[in-house]
Amino acid sequence: MEEKLKELAVRREKITAGGGPKRVAAQHEKGKLTARERIQAFLDAGSFVEVDAFVEHRAVDLGMDKTEAPGEGVVIGYGTVNGRTVWVFAQDFTVVGGSLGEMHAAKICKAMDMAMKAGCPCIGINDSGGARIQEGVDALSGYGDIFYRNTLASGVIPQISVIMGPCAGGAVYSPALTDFTVMVDKTSNMFITGPQVIKAVTREDVSAEDLGGALVHSEVSGCAHLMFNNEQETLEGIRTLLSYLPQNNIEDAPAYPCSDPTNRSIPTLAGIIPDTPNKPYDIRDVIHQVFDSGSFFEVQALYAQNIVIGFARLGGRSVGIIANQPRIMAGVLDINASDKASRFIRFCDAFNIPLITLTDTAGYLPGVGQEHSGVIRHGAKLLYAYSEATVPKLTLIVRKAYGGAYIAMCSKHLGADQVFAWPSAEIAVMGPDGAANIIFKKDIDEASDPVAKRQEKINEYKQKFANPYKAATRGYVDDVIDPADTRMRLFGALSMLLGKRESRPAKKHANMPV
Ligand code: HXC
Repeated sequence: MEEKLKELAVRREKITAGGGPKRVAAQHEKGKLTARERIQAFLDAGSFVEVDAFVEHRAVDLGMDKTEAPGEGVVIGYGTVNGRTVWVFAQDFTVVGGSLGEMHAAKICKAMDMAMKAGCPCIGINDSGGARIQEGVDALSGYGDIFYRNTLASGVIPQISVIMGPCAGGAVYSPALTDFTVMVDKTSNMFITGPQVIKAVTREDVSAEDLGGALVHSEVSGCAHLMFNNEQETLEGIRTLLSYLPQNNIEDAPAYPCSDPTNRSIPTLAGIIPDTPNKPYDIRDVIHQVFDSGSFFEVQALYAQNIVIGFARLGGRSVGIIANQPRIMAGVLDINASDKASRFIRFCDAFNIPLITLTDTAGYLPGVGQEHSGVIRHGAKLLYAYSEATVPKLTLIVRKAYGGAYIAMCSKHLGADQVFAWPSAEIAVMGPDGAANIIFKKDIDEASDPVAKRQEKINEYKQKFANPYKAATRGYVDDVIDPADTRMRLFGALSMLLGKRESRPAKKHANMPV
């Protein structure tokens, strides 16, 4: 037995060494940790249990018969994050560039299958040269197996993709199929075709960083949900993200003790909203004051900044926040904002996280560019996602709720359970200026002083419609509240709705506009 144990130790040591000291040093020089170091840094200390360490490839072509690939270039296993189980896989760039062959893919699929069986999140750390060229279709089929599982797991367990190096070609579609893609600034990239192919095909010159770095995907493409400065911060950020999520779709997110009083009055809130309806302010100032102190965790902060999404806690319970951002483009809804918010709403709904919507928007963004790029089908996603959602849905109309945007921002008509409005709310088909120009055009044109007449008509319209009371008389607004009471009222409504059960007609699946 002693001999056999020695052999086991030797074998394990060889596998643990990955691609050897030279390649490990090269990895460190790039500011990157190895796969095992990443897993250790991510999980609770001492909790990692490795699985499939002894798996080997069985490729023989193009020199693969003589190529050793310790661990098959990917480390998989399970452990805990703040005491809760997760499955992880981490591609090992020091072993054949973390390239994905048949058995490498089989290990990743095992991690995903086990996460599904255990009903726990699956976190994948990507750092790979893509499909292992020498393995041909066996490598490609491996990607297909992963995509298939990503799709089956969607809405059942949270799936998080972490990009910590290259992620190229079809490999990018696994992150795209998961719930959250997290990137490290300067050391990660994602693209379908790299700079060389682009140069050959379109003659465009672009660096890997400018093409598919963390900043580009956070700010421009919207493919990354979170971005951090280095690997340590990234792994810490994912631990924080997980703290807001349940383990799976039949559990609730964990509730934490809350030291922030739920009946806390917030007299400063009223002062945040400017007196003039078109003046900008930062909706995050409202969010920070209303929800549990320090609990707001923003997602996609740099993309479509005219809408703000993220997790927070209210009385210790996770909620998903969707809020127009009047500081950027008057908080209008456009294609990107609709895409951003609707996917977040669907994530929260799939994972039993109540939705809280803060409305202050001038409406959908007018323009040829928007219309021609499909604002109709993109904007429809927001209506669809809110209507489909059966979790508790609370809406607070802070200021402007005009036209289609009033409906789209989780109005009563899309199934909001409770709608509150501040006295500053204006619920109307459009803003007073535009409305007066249309419906009182004749009176204004014919007046001896058209400017004065116009102002008179605007005031008349404001008086009648640009307030929350018309909607409240119909019961579309459940209550008009003092801003100071917002935290208390939202918490009360959330507590009332914790047992909410709502079903939808049975169907195979729906057909969301895309
Ligand atoms: C086999 C690979 C590999 C791959 C890298 N290596 N990519 N081996 N298949 N796809 C090996 C290298 O030969 C090298 O081996 C080691 O990994 C490290 O690679 P380097 O090139 O030395 O590293 P670096 O300079 O950092 O460059 C990293 C890189 C580059 C940018 C990722 O390796 C690269 O461009 N690789 C190919 C990327 C690619 O086009 N992949 C296919 C995408 S298509 P040694 O032994 O020297 O250490 C795809 C289709 C999926 O993935 C389809 C799904 C539907």
